Amino acid sequence: STSSGQLDGFSFENVVARDSGVGKSCIVLRFVRGQFDPSSKVTIAASFLLETVALQESTTVKFEIRDIAGQERYVALTPLYYRGAVIAVVVYDITNPHSFNKARYWVKEPQKHGSPDIVLALVGNKADLQQKQEVSIEDGMNHAEKNEMFFIETSAKTTYNINQLFEEIAKRLP
Ligand code: GTP
Ligand code: MG
Repeated sequence: STSSGQLDGFSFENVVARDSGVGKSCIVLRFVRGQFDPSSKVTIAASFLLETVALQESTTVKFEIRDIAGQERYVALTPLYYRGAVIAVVVYDITNPHSFNKARYWVKEPQKHGSPDIVLALVGNKADLQQKQEVSIEDGMNHAEKNEMFFIETSAKTTYNINQLFEEIAKRLP
């Protein structure tokens, strides 16, 4: 690689250590636009997307998606974005155990700030990187089960289970 040490340090601090970069924005982009951006930029605070999707012939669901920043610096803002949310999707990266620990912590936040009957989903993303998998599917499933969450592994890169994720969400909406 020709990148400077300084650039590597920046990437490490902002993408790995702070655990952004699990693929939240890529999942949304794949679902809404059918695209994948290998150089996806970190999300600043949050971005909002509205999408009406025909999931089956007779079912149309209007999604108002709040794609929230993962970086620590936005931590004070994020409760604003899941206030009143009817579903929260917590994403970790299957190659990154730290992101799984963080996801386990984050699960409690939407329960505090979202609607009382909020539906929770736990998503293990980057399932295409199976040879680097460090969080097993069993660990993900067990944690989801304990917290009454719906669980799925996805890949925004290959499209694996992306539509299934949103179909399952739609099924569980009040
Ligand atoms: P923040 O906005 O900072 O919280 O990050 P994020 O969770 O939105 O991450 P983002 O979607 O921007 O993706 C971060 C990086 O992971 C990008 O370089 C993507 O190309 C890569 N990525 C996302 N999804 C996948 C995936 O399913 N497989 C692989 N191999 N890479 C992925
Ligand atoms: Mg993002």
